[in-house]
Amino acid sequence: MMRTHLCGELRLENVGQTVTLAGWVNRRREHGEHLAFVDVRDHSGITQAVVDNDVDVRSEYVVRITGTVVARTPETVKTNLATGEIELHDCSIEVLSAAEPPPFPLDERADDVDEMVRLKHRYLDLRRERMQRNLRVRSTVNSTIRNAMSGQGFVEVETPMLMPSTPEGAREFLVPSRQRPGNFYALPQSPQLYKQLLMVGGLDRYFQIARCLRDEDLRADRQYEFMQLDMEMSFVDVDDVLAAVEISVLDAAEAVTGVRPEAVPRISWHEAMETYGSDKPDLRFGMELVELTPVFSETGFNAFSSAEAIKGIKVEGGAADYGRNKLDGLTDEAKSFGAKGMVWLKVQGDGTFDSPVAKFISESETAALIETFSAVDGDLLLLIADDWMTTCEVLGELRNRVGRPPVSEGPYKYVWVVDFPLFVGVDSATGRPKPGHHAFCHPHTDDLDKLESDPMAVRAWAYDLVLNGWELGSGSIRIHEPDLQRRVFEILGIDEEEANRRFGFFLEPFKYGAPPHGGFAYGIDRLSAILAGEESIREVIAFPKPQSGLDPLTGAPGEVDESQLAELGIRLLPPAT
Ligand code: AMO
Repeated sequence: MMRTHLCGELRLENVGQTVTLAGWVNRRREHGEHLAFVDVRDHSGITQAVVDNDVDVRSEYVVRITGTVVARTPETVKTNLATGEIELHDCSIEVLSAAEPPPFPLDERADDVDEMVRLKHRYLDLRRERMQRNLRVRSTVNSTIRNAMSGQGFVEVETPMLMPSTPEGAREFLVPSRQRPGNFYALPQSPQLYKQLLMVGGLDRYFQIARCLRDEDLRADRQYEFMQLDMEMSFVDVDDVLAAVEISVLDAAEAVTGVRPEAVPRISWHEAMETYGSDKPDLRFGMELVELTPVFSETGFNAFSSAEAIKGIKVEGGAADYGRNKLDGLTDEAKSFGAKGMVWLKVQGDGTFDSPVAKFISESETAALIETFSAVDGDLLLLIADDWMTTCEVLGELRNRVGRPPVSEGPYKYVWVVDFPLFVGVDSATGRPKPGHHAFCHPHTDDLDKLESDPMAVRAWAYDLVLNGWELGSGSIRIHEPDLQRRVFEILGIDEEEANRRFGFFLEPFKYGAPPHGGFAYGIDRLSAILAGEESIREVIAFPKPQSGLDPLTGAPGEVDESQLAELGIRLLPPAT
């Protein structure tokens, strides 16, 4: 046997036993003339061994230590270490691998090391407690959601990685075909196409822990490659899909944190926008948007008189924290989010405002504002006036800027956002409405009569799951009726010929009897990161790409031989200047 115990396992009850541990030397300290302390570490923890100081072991050597478990004297007990009540004596050490000094310390000090250095030596970074814990959180999430889906009768099916290019939204990664030069496969942005075909194929309930690829700009919550819990169900309505997803997410959260979150509340998209200015509202803090349009119904203030909607947020006691520079910064941000400007008002003890625009706001408006906000001396009010959507969105961004805690900070606040609009905005090229999610979302049946007459008011059976202000996942009930699909295409300005050209391979199967169906997908990286208390999904991915997309460990992406390109029928253009 290579080892009898793990390095984090030994306790007082093991005293007297002869044990063998294997692991890495975490630290070596000389102890007097003849002895040294060697801390040996594996994924489970650290044990201190007292060895002769003539043994040649240094940090990160891989060793096997056999010794006797001894209780530490009371004054040397380490309460912050699980094995802190014991140590090994009479040790013999075998060096299994020598090691050069690591390029950075493998303890919490590595958190301050440049991320590129950590990623270049990821195999060392992975030895750290933080990464060991995070990958185990992720593994727990994976196994729990797999069980939760299987337990509900979902069938696990793997769908192809090489598929046709499909218009799903993000930019695709393309793979040239050797056998058909000039032709390309695309890597899946998601298994969307195939999972719907599985429903036509009668699988009834499908799931997959699916790798998806999108050529997007990388951020804390985005990688080129990421994992989804992807699912689809037949003969269901919105409630059925949400219930099945919720079981898996709450099971995973409980398995990691030990606490089962409460049933996830629901909020309509419209209410989320009205109240939080966001379709991914962070419910960990209040600072709700306050409706002010009636307050200014007869205003003489130009900036407000012609606006469709006027709303604001209150930063409690914020007047002192926000000096002129900070407020100018916030105003610039509001403009960058699409606002024409931002009005700020500091509430003063005498019931007036300190603000460059105070003189444009009448006494009665001032009193009404203070009352509507329940504002007191020292509060800061931020107001936006614009069309309804811009007003909500800009205030939602400001609310996050001013009040939002880091995403990983507790408590966990899940929320379903339901009833997304079927269409959002207008395509500037065609003048037609743009699909909110995609062209295949089922309109809410209560709104079907408005489809042609008032398309922008039609709600979709589309929903998102949000956790602490991050979109965890999204899904919809799909259109399975060819007639309804034609009506939606018509509104989007897609005629039959174009529909067949762009989506033919997807529409054809629906002619042969498609069941009503719907589904969902959520990001496993995002869920794992938040449950692990991390701000970036890179911390829960073994080998992530940094923001540049360039992998410092392997050097990917790299050049390939001319002969490989020739085989694929590819010749490179000169680099763009
Ligand atoms: P959607 O495109 O909203 O829906 O993706 C679902 C979830 O996948 C995660 N995600 C990502 N995670 C990390 N990096 C990325 N680049 C990335 N892109 C997406 C997010 C997101 O909420 N087929 C539909 C689902 C459906 O309708 O059933 C889909 O993929 O957590």
